[in-house]
Amino acid sequence: MGEIRTFSTRRSLTQFLNDLGQDNCVGVVPTMGALHPGHISLVKRAEEDCDIVVVSIFVNPKQFNNPTDLERYPRTLEADLNMLEGRNVIVYNPSVDDVYGPDHVDIDLDLGLMGDVMEGKFRPGHFDGVVNVIYRLFEIVKPQKAYFGLKDFQQVAVVQFLTDTMNLPVEIVACPTHRESNGLAMSSRNKLLSERGKNEAAVIYKALTFAKESAVNGISINTIKADVKRMFDGSSLTLEYFDIVDPRSLETLGELSGKAQACIAAFCEDVRLIDNLEIQ
Ligand code: PAJ
Repeated sequence: MGEIRTFSTRRSLTQFLNDLGQDNCVGVVPTMGALHPGHISLVKRAEEDCDIVVVSIFVNPKQFNNPTDLERYPRTLEADLNMLEGRNVIVYNPSVDDVYGPDHVDIDLDLGLMGDVMEGKFRPGHFDGVVNVIYRLFEIVKPQKAYFGLKDFQQVAVVQFLTDTMNLPVEIVACPTHRESNGLAMSSRNKLLSERGKNEAAVIYKALTFAKESAVNGISINTIKADVKRMFDGSSLTLEYFDIVDPRSLETLGELSGKAQACIAAFCEDVRLIDNLEIQ
């Protein structure tokens, strides 16, 4: 059985990590808490690969472009620690001041197109906040490996870009998306949905699998987009965007030739949900 150690300051965390010595492989799993089985799958993967696993639980204010969203983001530390019980992990649960102390200076990374499309377009500043908190966590934890979920496909691309551009000695490990039995991608935000909402939100994954089937059948991107829009018009969800992009550059594709990723954001009961699927 493992034992959880919890640290709320970077000072105590780094002291503890230093005392464990330099020869360990350290993995970090950055989270904002409200943990669910999707998060735990990342933790399990990290436990398999690494000697020491640090799970950070920190609702990062810098990445919220909408104050209401930040305010109502679920915070469930006790339940989170229960979910991690029996795992051999170190939890870092800092205050905002501990992460961004008075001496903190933001890094300014030009994400180019990657920062301007999809999540970057609809949540201005979001990825600057993600880049900064990840850079900071890497500085504090000094991991060899860092684990991210493909549920946030664009986030994985942005974090990989950060490590490549700044030459950070961290391997980014991308992990598959965990879903509810109706296909809904697990998300901390699902906790804000009613049971009815959770059922209706299944249209998101339905649309993605429909797009995949259509791609297999040689249907054009324009037709797929129109059909998906119609699926949402016939549901209680509001589609924010549906795009089919090059998985590397995140550029919108005009036709299906090489690899393609379908990406979606939609509101269900005022809760913003995202998902994506490799369709070709
Ligand atoms: P959060 O939404 O808590 O997610 C933490 C990690 O869990 C992310 O890498 C996310 O992609 C992954 N994850 C979430 N749902 C998942 C699912 N259903 N299946 C697999 N992995 C899933 O993403 C963030 O926090 C923040 O932006 C963060 C990276 C912590 C920076 O603040």
